[in-house]
Amino acid sequence: MERIDLNRVDEIIDRYSGEEGVLIQLLLDLQSEFNWIPREAIARISERLHVPKSQIYRIASFYKAMSLIPIGRHVIQVCLGTACQVRGAPRIMSRIKESLGIEEGETTPDMRFTLRRVNCLGCCAMGPVVVVDGEYHGKVTPSDVKEILERYT
Ligand code: FES
Repeated sequence: MERIDLNRVDEIIDRYSGEEGVLIQLLLDLQSEFNWIPREAIARISERLHVPKSQIYRIASFYKAMSLIPIGRHVIQVCLGTACQVRGAPRIMSRIKESLGIEEGETTPDMRFTLRRVNCLGCCAMGPVVVVDGEYHGKVTPSDVKEILERYT
C-alpha cells in the first residue's frame, strides 16, 4: 500500500497545537485530506499529542464520517433493495464488479472507486438505482454502466 506523507499529517496536527479536545476535528481533517485515516497517521497523533492509540481508534470507528480503510475518490452505491432487485439490480451489480474487477465493499487499486451495496434508497420507482458520490442514476441497465463509470475520473 502507498505510504502516506507524514508531513501532511504533521501540518494538520500543528493546526491544533496546544488546544484541548480537538481530536475529533483533527481526525475529520485527516479524513478529508487522505479520504481515510491511515494507521501511520494514528501512530503520529498518538505520539505527538500523548493520546493512547486505542482512544483514537475508538473515535475513528464510532464516527461514520471517518474510515479506517482506504476509500476511493468516488463511492458507488448499488441499491439491492427488493424493488431494485426485481427490476434487475443484481445484473447491474455484476456488471459493475466485472468492469472494475472488485467485489462489494472493495476499492479499486488505483483508488478511483469504492463499491458498496445498499438496501433501498427510498426512490424505488427509479429502480434499479445506482448512486455515485451522491448523484442518483435511475432505471439503470447493464449497458449504461460503462457510460456512468466513465463520468467519474
Ligand atoms: S429498493 Fe432500491 S430504491 Fe427502494
